[in-house]
Amino acid sequence: MSNMLNLTLKVWRQDGDAQVGAFETYATTISDDASFLEMLDFVNEELLAADREPIAFDHDCREGICGTCGLMINGQAHGPQHGTATCQLHMRKFSDGDTIVIEPWRAAAFPVVKDLIVNRAAFDRIIESGGYITVNTGAAPEANQTPVPKEAADAAMDAAACIGCGACVAACPNSAAQLFTSAKLAHLNLLPQGQAERWARTEAMVDTMEEFFGSCTNHGECQDACPKEISIDFIAMMNRDYVKSKLTNRRRGGQRKAG
Ligand code: SF4
Ligand code: FES
Repeated sequence: MSNMLNLTLKVWRQDGDAQVGAFETYATTISDDASFLEMLDFVNEELLAADREPIAFDHDCREGICGTCGLMINGQAHGPQHGTATCQLHMRKFSDGDTIVIEPWRAAAFPVVKDLIVNRAAFDRIIESGGYITVNTGAAPEANQTPVPKEAADAAMDAAACIGCGACVAACPNSAAQLFTSAKLAHLNLLPQGQAERWARTEAMVDTMEEFFGSCTNHGECQDACPKEISIDFIAMMNRDYVKSKLTNRRRGGQRKAG
């Protein structure tokens, strides 16, 4: 049976990165069957009906796949439910009479576009610097042509679960992007198909990451905030690969540009 929740929302409103933002307070009543984003949709309908500007927030798949959504809810990236993206959070996680504070990701590398929307293009710069993979993608290969050890395949799949949401950066006191970058590196570096550009890719992506984001000091907040439960073990793997990439690329005559 569903229950109605009377809520007070404190929502961050900001016209853009150059503008000063502030919290605005809204009262709403919503069924606890609603998802968190449906609750924001409902508040926006109320705002539009009152001829007021709706709250800008990012979303796309609403299935925890695309990584577009991402809100700081009561100080927690993606809210109170572990391993859950904002779009998969339901209002039954809250109680009647609650005050909910809703903010955008806070990180210098993610400037505010509007209200709760941030620009995560710095992630794209990291991916871009990794280049491409020179694997033959002609006709479908025979399945056993490139044997992949089960452990490597499983770990690569775990890393590939990263949806690029940015919660790891938002949760980190240093705004570091180690968890994201290490996941993106690991899902290629662990597989036989990813070996050709492994060292060039690793050096380029880590160096690009360091241009935009802070340093990792092993707080572990990223792992706790990650909706896909990506392990910080991947950061250790990235650090090992980065040292090896420096030595390998120097032996090859300087850093080869990935791609
Ligand atoms: S590592 Fe997790 S928190 Fe970070 S971008 Fe990927 S899915 Fe989001
Ligand atoms: S909207 Fe796609 S992961 Fe949340």
